[in-house]
Amino acid sequence: MKGVILAGGLGTRLHPLTKVTNKHLLPVYDKPMIYYPIQILINAGIDDILIVTGGNNAGDFLRLLGNGKEFGLKHINYTYQQGEGGIAEALGLAEFFASGEGICVVLGDNIIEGNIRRAAEAFQKQKQGAKILLKEVPDPHRFGVAELNGERIVRIEEKPKQPKSKYAVIGIYFYDPTVFDFIKTLKPSDRGELEITDVNNRYIGKGSMTYDILEGWWTDAGTFESLHRANQLVAQTGANKL
Ligand code: G1P
Repeated sequence: MKGVILAGGLGTRLHPLTKVTNKHLLPVYDKPMIYYPIQILINAGIDDILIVTGGNNAGDFLRLLGNGKEFGLKHINYTYQQGEGGIAEALGLAEFFASGEGICVVLGDNIIEGNIRRAAEAFQKQKQGAKILLKEVPDPHRFGVAELNGERIVRIEEKPKQPKSKYAVIGIYFYDPTVFDFIKTLKPSDRGELEITDVNNRYIGKGSMTYDILEGWWTDAGTFESLHRANQLVAQTGANKL
């Protein structure tokens, strides 16, 4: 399985912090944000990694990470997203890299306390379809929210005003190669982006989506509140524990 980290976007919710740099290069406690998703993939045994970035500071990723020696990698792949087409559009740029293999996609501002090894192994056995990870949160309206019916996932709603559960869909996803065909059929949402939630709902509609509940804390870091929280959590307990 290959790994894709989505680290583009303009980070407008963090202005002025992101006026002269990319959100994923900002510090979270003692490391740049992008270090955490890279470690998530490595801890899951995934070392063939593509970073999709964009904006005016894309070159800084290369200066910071090079070929990933600090992580014990021999090579990192990079690609560039022009404009602000959304998470699913950014993922579409990984089709050539994936070349028919399954992928684990991590949003570059997602940080976890533990690891995703069990989910990664389960997805390898699943062979086709997709798998997402859910986490119970106090503020589900900020995220994609899963509607559950027993063990079954019925639908995901993106940032619903009245969430149907407390389970947020975290920014770590497993997909088979048909994901790229789904992406090609997507239409932009009201915010003008191709939404990852639409991709996930396609898999749910086909009956080939599974989910796990993530153990340990999870946070994103794309707003002032969540970036602050991410700093506190990492400082207090550390991230990416095995
Ligand atoms: C994105 C996804 C959302 C998901 C979240 C996780 O939201 O659209 O479904 O729950 O990442 O971090 P965004 O951060 O782009 O608002």
